[in-house]
Amino acid sequence: MERTFSIIKPDATKRNITGAINKIIEENNLKIVAQKRLKLSVEKAKGFYSVHQDKPFFNDLIDYMTSGPVIIQVLEGNNAVEEYRKIMGSTNPDNADKGTIRKEFALNIQENSVHGSDSPSNANIEIKYFFDDSEIVI
Ligand code: CMP
Repeated sequence: MERTFSIIKPDATKRNITGAINKIIEENNLKIVAQKRLKLSVEKAKGFYSVHQDKPFFNDLIDYMTSGPVIIQVLEGNNAVEEYRKIMGSTNPDNADKGTIRKEFALNIQENSVHGSDSPSNANIEIKYFFDDSEIVI
């Protein structure tokens, strides 16, 4: 069993498709063991995406991620990090495989509906950035 961190992003909460995304997550044997709906502060979003702070899209990314509510989640399952990345599809929906969340729902490379951790060690860091252990219930 492994855990990964997920964000359902503002483009998805605005279009009321969070349930449709959760359905795909659950159908693929990932269990949502923690979930919160909140609006990210600029400070929290900048801290989360600090690895991208020198990228040309950083300011737009922070504006977008703070433009509306997000759903933050902890997902648990076998190979959860890799499995969720498969289900999400490529960052750019134009390159995503059919049936993936981003192919079905993402609007463009920035408004791409979901985030998922890229490694088990980053999953651990990202989960701790948002959740206390007591908020994760199996
Ligand atoms: P995510 O997986 O959350 O990681 C970083 C985010 O930055 C990414 O999803 C997109 O929302 C955004 N992003 C990545 N690459 C680009 C890009 N080339 N232009 C604009 N936004 C991007």
